[in-house]
Amino acid sequence: MDIRIFASNPLLNTAAAGLIAHLLQAKPNAVLGLATGGTPVGIYEELIKLYTLQHIQFREAISFNLDEYVGLPETHDQSYHAYMQQHLFKHIDLPQSNIHIPNGNATDLEAECARYDALLDGVKQIDLQILGLGHNGHIGFNEPDEGLVGGTHLVELKEETRLANARYFNNLAEVPTHAITMGIGTILKARTILLVVRGTDKAKIVHDALTGPITTENPASLLQTHPNLVVMLDTEAGELFS
Ligand code: PGA
Repeated sequence: MDIRIFASNPLLNTAAAGLIAHLLQAKPNAVLGLATGGTPVGIYEELIKLYTLQHIQFREAISFNLDEYVGLPETHDQSYHAYMQQHLFKHIDLPQSNIHIPNGNATDLEAECARYDALLDGVKQIDLQILGLGHNGHIGFNEPDEGLVGGTHLVELKEETRLANARYFNNLAEVPTHAITMGIGTILKARTILLVVRGTDKAKIVHDALTGPITTENPASLLQTHPNLVVMLDTEAGELFS
């Protein structure tokens, strides 16, 4: 496990974008596992800069997003479809046909999960999976539980997750109760995992996840088993590591 602590968020963003840029330069048709939420926004901004400077291109790349809310129209500004367009896709040359995000409005959600897994099987392996971290240890929307699911599946969001995400909606009632998420098995199959965590409010959960017992009650703790895990923390999130 490679844990890097950065003195500032701009430095972290540059390093994370650099890792992704390196991959794209070495392998233009890389499969990228993408995340949403507040955590990756600054990294996507750096990637857009590198693209604008023509240091990288996405023409041949393939992307798979971790998750999507159930029942939120794709045009809703808090859908992860809309988020990805706004923060990354509309600024770069990644072809629409290479973009994959679960469809949270499918009439048959089980079939949608199977469809997503079949697409993931088609690419065999994600080259680099970006992950944020929930306050309860979730990765993607794999919430703490007695057991975890390997493949893409429907989840009921925990109250703490809905509360954390309520800041993006008008009120808690508007936050969807369910989501489709890529499973832990798919995440752990990625060649490289980049876990990014910011802020003092996540210092304990990230420390527990990476140094405590491996338990499904802290899904991120399973990342300890991954052979190529890169962790990027700002000073606040990394305060318990020194
Ligand atoms: P955040 O969410 O990036 O908005 O903090 C991370 C997560 O819940 O996975």
